[in-house]
Amino acid sequence: IGYKPSDKFKKVAHDIPMLSLANAFSKENIEDFLKKIKNFLNIKDSEKIVFSAEPKIDGISASLKYIDGIFTLGLSRGDGKVGEDITPQIMTLHEIPHRLSESLTCNIRGEVFMKISTFEQFGDEFVNPRNAAAGSLKQKDHRITRDRKLSFFAYDIRPWQGLDTEEEEMELIQRLGLPAVPTETAKAEMLEKIYERWVKERENLDYEIDGLVIKESSKEKQEDMGSTAHHPRWAMAWKFPAEQGSSKIISIGWQVGRTGTVTPVANLEPVPIAGATIKRSTLHNVEELERL
Ligand code: IVH
Repeated sequence: IGYKPSDKFKKVAHDIPMLSLANAFSKENIEDFLKKIKNFLNIKDSEKIVFSAEPKIDGISASLKYIDGIFTLGLSRGDGKVGEDITPQIMTLHEIPHRLSESLTCNIRGEVFMKISTFEQFGDEFVNPRNAAAGSLKQKDHRITRDRKLSFFAYDIRPWQGLDTEEEEMELIQRLGLPAVPTETAKAEMLEKIYERWVKERENLDYEIDGLVIKESSKEKQEDMGSTAHHPRWAMAWKFPAEQGSSKIISIGWQVGRTGTVTPVANLEPVPIAGATIKRSTLHNVEELERL
């Protein structure tokens, strides 16, 4: 979920809309996606399709505009058409160069995130690294953003600069001086193994990921397939199962909502889940609570 533009920041239209990704929650969803690609491109043998596979970074998306190689504008996603001008905040990220190694005019897109190790340095200040990144980018005083030591991974450059594949795109991003999201090329039958590898690898990373992004690698085929109003047809996010944990209920209290609804809330023995320490949880409704 992106965050809605607030009144605090100037709103600026994106040169090219920032789309979302279609989600897959199962192997079947991925098989459907592969079938659709085959049909769309009229390819019989899925061996002929080359994919790129990369982790889905659980952060906040941002678009960086460079004119003749100079960083000129940083925008949040906003509603995808209009973003918020967060140029001073973006400029504090030390991984984002103010000048590219080549004097290109382009938009580079990627994910702003807080490393788990940085998040831990802040103790109890934030709920999870993603919230920390979102809150830090929304600081009007960019000196606060700077002190939060945010990181960045780029995954997209527009226009495509005559590139043929996703791999070349990531190479260009790195050559220009930005950190690129780790990517690899794969045939269809390899995707499941790669997914499982990242599910395991997730535990050892210093950043949070919530899925595997699979993209048709050829830029030409991407153009042929195009996009819906919401997402490109040539890409899919294969989401990881939600992280779970178990704990003990210490006590149950009541929470009164803005509209007067009363919800039971459990106070729990603290349990770490997905980078956050969970101490409280709503308990659905009274009927369900009584049943249990
Ligand atoms: S590609 C037009 N690759 O996930 C292509 N997105 O749920 C769109 N995201 O808004 C994005 N890691 O901010 C792409 N490796 C990755 C990504 C990635 C994280 C975010 C992105 C997008 C959201 C969709």
